[in-house]
Amino acid sequence: MKISIGCDHIVTEIKNEMVKYLKGKGHEVFDEGTFDNERTHYPIYGRKVGLRVSSKEADFGIVICGTGVGISNAASKIPGIRLSLVRDVLTAKTAREKLDANVLGLGGRITGAGLMQNITDEFLAAQYEKTEENEKLIERINNLKKENEEIKKEEFLNFWDQSISKYLKRWNELKNKFKIGEMI
Ligand code: RB5
Repeated sequence: MKISIGCDHIVTEIKNEMVKYLKGKGHEVFDEGTFDNERTHYPIYGRKVGLRVSSKEADFGIVICGTGVGISNAASKIPGIRLSLVRDVLTAKTAREKLDANVLGLGGRITGAGLMQNITDEFLAAQYEKTEENEKLIERINNLKKENEEIKKEEFLNFWDQSISKYLKRWNELKNKFKIGEMI
């Protein structure tokens, strides 16, 4: 499989170990960095992994930071990414089977190295169950962004309508008060 992996500076060594582990299992790995311990920001690497997966250059992604929380949130903002932050093997299996998750989030300072390897193995081995129910749920998740954008558009239009009617009301008041129509 082709796997994209990224991390922040807190867990570089842990990511490097995971790269070695994955290559040892025969996977092709895109190591997106970071590559040292210099302070950096996890959204950079979460984004890189997310894009590599959403463009289908990689089959799956793995993101690691101290807790896994920051980089998972970042990667999940990339359209097409379904990410699960996982701390146990059953969750890894469920994320693949039910959600068709394509990126695995790990907390390198929370979960031990052996467990992270087991979780990764399970995540990569489990198969998505393409049932009608799962498909519908995934579609609903995918539509959330669009629905939210529609709501925002509507709120903006309402706000605009209200502003215009307030402005017109005030204009009419002033027009009547100062008999503006009669002056022109
Ligand atoms: C360090 O930036 C730390 O906040 C990060 O590794 C992670 O734990 C955040 O969720």
